[in-house]
Amino acid sequence: MSTLIIGANGGVGQYLVKQLKERGESFTAGVRKESQVEALASEGVDAILIDVEADDIDTLTQKINGFDKVVFSVGSGGSTGADKTISVDLDGAIKTIKASETNNVKQYVMVSTYDSRRLAFDASGDLKPYTIAKHYADEYLKQADVNYTIVHPGGLTDEAATDKIEVGAFFEGRGTIPREDVASVIREVLNSDNLLNSEFQIVSGDISISDALTKFNQ
Ligand SMILES: NC(=O)c1ccc[n+]([C@@H]2O[C@H](COP(=O)([O-])OP(=O)(O)OC[C@H]3O[C@@H](n4cnc5c(N)ncnc54)[C@H](OP(=O)(O)O)[C@@H]3O)[C@@H](O)[C@H]2O)c1
Repeated sequence: MSTLIIGANGGVGQYLVKQLKERGESFTAGVRKESQVEALASEGVDAILIDVEADDIDTLTQKINGFDKVVFSVGSGGSTGADKTISVDLDGAIKTIKASETNNVKQYVMVSTYDSRRLAFDASGDLKPYTIAKHYADEYLKQADVNYTIVHPGGLTDEAATDKIEVGAFFEGRGTIPREDVASVIREVLNSDNLLNSEFQIVSGDISISDALTKFNQ
């Protein structure tokens, strides 16, 4: 069983690489620069170049071939415009979902936005294109021929991990969560068949990650 992490150089992605490496789990880091591939290789981490905007579906299909699981922790970021939101967060995500279907990937883990439901973008605001992109990427994934887990984190912080979260289908309020804890949730999700074809929000809370995910699933 091997996992491809797309967006492995990102805030969440780097923590996930660290955690999977420490646990000796089988994975490959998908990054965008040759220098990053080399740096990871020097640390004993398998890495490949993958750019969900530049790579076409055939190329992505070849790159995903052989992986059992795919994590999409990609984001075009707040400093780019709506064009990148469409080509990376929407089209890039859907291309990798199609490539995962073709390869009979067993689980596709999407790092989504906190709330990608339709009601979240009926209001106006700077995040509207991003929320629309995440909504349709999530909807596409839910209808695709691949087992999915969609993780909806609250506002991401660089604070130290607490290993404690709150999990819910959809909360009334908002919250934050350290990127390191999001990575821990993804790691748990990758090792649990019980969270296939589910989606949930996560924010910092009082219950251990493992217990909170188990309780959510019951
Ligand atoms: N910010 C929040 O509060 C918040 C809340 C909920 C969810 N999220 C979502 O959580 C996810 C992870 O967040 P994060 O903080 O880890 O984000 P991040 O640090 O910005 O990482 C995003 C990663 O995506 C990669 N990327 C961008 N364009 C790409 C492309 N065309 N092909 C392949 N990779 C590409 C970036 O690569 P480079 O390193 O090469 O630039 C980067 O490694 C994002 O998808 C974000 O939308 C964010």
